[in-house]
This record gives sequence, C-alpha cells and structure tokens, in this order.
Amino acid sequence: MNFQLTEEHLMIQQAARDFAQNELKPGVIERDEHQKFPAEQVKKLGEWGFLGMMVDPKYGGAGLDAISYVLVMEELSKIDASVSVVVSVNNSLVCYGLELYGSEEQKQKYLVPLAKGEIIGAFCLSEPEAGSDATSQRTTAIDMGDHYLLNGTKNWITSGNSASVYLVIAQTDVAKGHKGINAFIVEKGMPGFTVGPKENKLGIRGSDTHSLMFTDVKVPKENRIGEDGFGFKFAMKTLEGGRIGIASQALGIASGAYELAVQYSKERKAFGKPICDHQAIQFKLADMATEIEAARMLCLKAAWLKDNHQPYAQASAMAKLFASEVAMKTTVEAVQVHGGYGYVKEYHVERLMRDAKITQIYEGTSEIQKIVISREVLK
Ligand code: CAA
Repeated sequence: MNFQLTEEHLMIQQAARDFAQNELKPGVIERDEHQKFPAEQVKKLGEWGFLGMMVDPKYGGAGLDAISYVLVMEELSKIDASVSVVVSVNNSLVCYGLELYGSEEQKQKYLVPLAKGEIIGAFCLSEPEAGSDATSQRTTAIDMGDHYLLNGTKNWITSGNSASVYLVIAQTDVAKGHKGINAFIVEKGMPGFTVGPKENKLGIRGSDTHSLMFTDVKVPKENRIGEDGFGFKFAMKTLEGGRIGIASQALGIASGAYELAVQYSKERKAFGKPICDHQAIQFKLADMATEIEAARMLCLKAAWLKDNHQPYAQASAMAKLFASEVAMKTTVEAVQVHGGYGYVKEYHVERLMRDAKITQIYEGTSEIQKIVISREVLK
C-alpha cells in the first residue's frame, strides 16, 4: 500500500492551493454576505481546467484522476465552499454523467463546452416533495413522438441561474416506478423553462441555489440520456461520484477551519501564554487533526477505488457521511478556539461553520448515506 502522492498530484494540489489563496480569498466574506455568485472566479477555474478535471482531453477535459479531484476540492473548500460546490457539481454530476452515458452527439454539443468551463451545468433531481425519496419524482416528461413534454418543479438546484445546461430527472411512465424515470438535457432559454428566485441560505451563500419551473417544455428526443427508463440509475451512478466531491468539500471546510484554529492558538495569549500552550486547546487540536486525517483517508480511498474501476458506492457514502460530520464538529470547535473573535466574520471560521452544515444535507443526507452503507453491508 502506497500513501505517497505523486509529483503530479503534489503539483495539482499546490496549484489549487495557490488559486484558493490568490483568487478566492479576496472577496470571500463579501460574496458570502451579499450572496454574490463567484462568476469571475468560476470563469478562471474553467480556464485552469478545474471544471472538467476528469474528462478525457478529447472532450475538452484535463484527463486527471479522482485523487487529483479530491486534492483540488479540499484546497478550494478550505477557502470558499460556495465556489467548490460549483466545481463539484460540474465535474461529478454533470460532466461525469455525460461522459459515461451521453451519446457522441451529446458529448460534442454539451460535454465539450462544459468540460472546458465555457459554460456550467446543473443537476436537477430534488423536488419540493422528492429529496431523499428520489424515486418519487413528480416532474413528468410525456413522450410526444419526436419530443418529450416536460412539466414540473425542481428545488434547491445548485447553479440554478448561472448554468446553461441542466440534467433534469423526470418520470415518463408512473406505472413503471423507478424504471419509468429518464434523464434529459435541458438548455436554458427553452420556451416554458423559468428560474425561480434565489434561496437565502444559511451557508454557501455565494452559490446560486434556485427552484426551476418547467411548463410544457419541448425537449427533443435526442436529449434523453441513455435507454428509455435509465434515468434513476443514471442519477444514482452520478451521485456515487458526486459524493466523493462533497466528502472532499467537507474535508476542505474542516481542514480550513483547523488551520485557522492552529494559527490563532499560537497568536492569542491568555493567562500569560499562547493559548496553544494550554492543554484544553491542545486536546481540541489533536482531536481535529486526527479526525480530519481519517476523513482524508476515506475520501482518497473512495477516489482510488473509482480510479481503479472498482465498486465505490459504499466507500463514497462512508467518506461523505464521516467527512461531513467531521466538518460540522471541527468548525464548531474552531469557533470555540477563537472565542469571541470566532463569532465575527473577519475571522472566517463562523462562515466555515455555516458552510459545513450543507455537506450533511445535499447529495443525500447523512441518513441516506447510512441507507446506502447498510445495504452494502447487509448484501
Ligand atoms: N447504482 C446503480 N443502480 C442503483 C444504485 C447505484 N448506486 N442505487 C440504486 N440503484 C438501482 C437499484 O438497483 C434498483 O434497481 P432494480 O430495481 O433494477 O434492482 C433501483 O435503482 C431502485 O433502487 P432502490 O430500490 O434502492 O431505491 P430506493 O427508492 O430505495 O432509494 C436511495 C435508494 C439510495 C435512498 C436513493 O433514493 C437516494 O440516493 N436518495 C438520495 C438522493 C440524493 O442524493 N439527492 C440529492 C440531490 S442532488 C444534489 O444535492 C446536488 C446538489 O445540488 C449539490
């Protein structure tokens, strides 16, 4: 077993670290406060190849492995999880699904600009009444011969307004249950497609989360992904990889808060010495460091399995479950280490604490991850 990152991995990690420090850190507090979408930063990430990281270069991607993806997601998320969620959704839920299951025409038309970062994509599964229970889709896509007629509402869609391409999951035949679900490529601007107002969120406030409404949207037949009835499996397969992205986001939020706590504990003095010389703080830092390392190992293990074409549904669910809990716990403790300063925006840890919570909710709540894990365990 080799725990050593390659020279290439280290270079990619350093590039992401530099990007986060130079491009994301300035303005991160303001973007959070004003819910400002990081359009400029996302555009640059595209130019750096971070939006189609794992896509084959013949489709405009960077052709990197999932280990590199974990490293990049951790570094970006240390500074701005509102940016890293856009990176994760575009890479894992949009590009990966299209590369694996899209037709050659779909790849040329949609995957190439998405992987190059010329446009960004959104993944539309959740509905007002179907979040965790993903088979209960109410959005319908009726087969009209040469096109499908799409009607319904999607909720909490990341990049809901900024995206140009949307992968929409919808029910085409209710009688068939999950086997009657399909996935469609929908373009912004198709008549009948409207974007609802932006959600005013607790965390990741820079990312634009919207509901989407579809009223008699005509989706061309060639925009269905895969065979008829493949949509639910398409969603499950893409989410397997997506959970590696969100697990790594949680890891980054935790390690970002931890690094700030270590630094602050060396600067702040109390009772005549730096607070890091007090055992009460040392024990907190030791717990944080241990749990973050364990989360990192789970993320890298899931990525390694994916890179080596081995089943990774359980591993990615475990990584997401554990890393998101570590993110929540670590950020709360980092605020505590900072005392009163931790509660104000200038010190960053309160934002990381707010951002951490979503990692226990999206791409399947912690309870959903436990369902996925226990089903594998009991197989
Ligand atoms: N790969 C392939 N097939 C899979 C699969 C997988 N990982 N998981 C399930 N399936 C298949 C099953 O084999 C089954 O097919 P057969 O009947 O042919 O055997 C079919 O799909 C139905 O599976 P289940 O009976 O297990 O379905 P279920 O109703 O019990 O649900 C679930 C399973 C795991 C709970 C699933 O509903 C789920 O993952 N829910 C959470 C959805 C989710 O993560 N939503 C997040 C939205 S995306 C998001 O948040 C993006 C963002 O903005 C950041």
